[in-house]
Amino acid sequence: MKRIAILGAQWGDEGKGKVVDFLAKDMDVVARYSGGPNAGHTVIIGDKKYILHLIPSGILHPNTMNVMGNGMVVDPESLIKEMEELEKAGVSFQDNLLISESAHVIMPYHKKLDALNEKIRGSKQIGTTLRGIGPAYADKASRIGIRVGELLHPDILREKLAFNLKIKNAIIENFFGEKGFDLEELYENTLTWAEKIKGFVGNSVLFMREAISSGKSILYEGAQGTMLDIDHGTYPYVTSSNPTIGGILTGLGVPKDAVDTIVGVVKAYTTRVGGGPFPTEEKGSIGELLRNQGHEYGATTGRPRRCGWLDLVALKFASWINGMTHIAITKLDVLDGFDTIKVCVAYEIDGEITEEFPTNPVDFAKAKPIYKELPGWKTPVKGISRWEDLPKEAAGYVEFIAEATDTKILLVSTGAERNETVTLV
Ligand code: IMP
Repeated sequence: MKRIAILGAQWGDEGKGKVVDFLAKDMDVVARYSGGPNAGHTVIIGDKKYILHLIPSGILHPNTMNVMGNGMVVDPESLIKEMEELEKAGVSFQDNLLISESAHVIMPYHKKLDALNEKIRGSKQIGTTLRGIGPAYADKASRIGIRVGELLHPDILREKLAFNLKIKNAIIENFFGEKGFDLEELYENTLTWAEKIKGFVGNSVLFMREAISSGKSILYEGAQGTMLDIDHGTYPYVTSSNPTIGGILTGLGVPKDAVDTIVGVVKAYTTRVGGGPFPTEEKGSIGELLRNQGHEYGATTGRPRRCGWLDLVALKFASWINGMTHIAITKLDVLDGFDTIKVCVAYEIDGEITEEFPTNPVDFAKAKPIYKELPGWKTPVKGISRWEDLPKEAAGYVEFIAEATDTKILLVSTGAERNETVTLV
């Protein structure tokens, strides 16, 4: 287990930050490959809580190199804020952070357009994090994006900003009727941001190649989750990148053999933020209980998360799409106190029962959950760190998930702290 991918197997917020942090201490490199400041990876160490949005979670380990890959979209303002917060907390990153020069920049007009696009959707809002993610990836695909490396070349930067503002301002002003952006002001601001981050910018593909050739251990840190994948998720209620396994290869420029262990992080129940169908959602008291016990409020936006039971249909799909070899079950302690625990094992769609995840969003929107009920446990699992100490029903629940997804259990998290973890491998 030298090259481990940690991926979200649900709709994001699975607790990847803790799993990454747990494993990062033994890793030479932690590399993020997709997404941007829409992510919020919470890591708790002692009485300190860190929420990382762009910087990989390995930053808390001084001997680990942290790479922000070309597949990411980087908001310089947000990155600088994150750097300042780490500095304030006494975390040093001068020698262990590398930002790909090919990653794309989220500009202020992307954030503005994200908000305007959402507004115009009315009742069909995606419920984005408003961090400019979709518009930035759209520009990347349209080949008008600005890459991080271009921030270091003022002439090219100015020319590209001038061209982009012609298009963006036309949309913002003429279509949405709002105030556009001033070129000179934006250019000056961008140069200031560039000055602050330039020391960290470089060729991450070359770095990864050398790390792999010299046998370094690598942890690939996923953001968001499989069900938010632009290709395989619940489109259009998805993010605009590939949080799934393929995103690692394209988002870092590494070959397939660069990954040997694929860990799907699975919350013991399901949550989702934003719009879109969610078959196992509990809108009443059970959902409330899960939200309160699990502190299910967005790390990036503070929004209350929608909560419900585990969805094995979606999870089995995630296991296939990612080739998951292992699972890490998080927040098992949140289910302490339930007499029975429901797991969705099939969907009913138009009167037909299926165990297959529908790739047609029209069908998925109609899916009703078919549940299997499993016994809850009488004594709490909170804080347990040895497998043999888990109540047999809790161990049975975890084993049931592993069997259904055809994976091995890597770890089970029974609380937010590092030591509240049962490790099995
Ligand atoms: P965007 O990535 O901001 O464009 O948001 C698109 C969808 O993905 C929305 O439903 C968001 O709530 C969701 N989303 C994006 N990032 C995260 C995350 O890190 N955790 C959970 N949901 C996310």
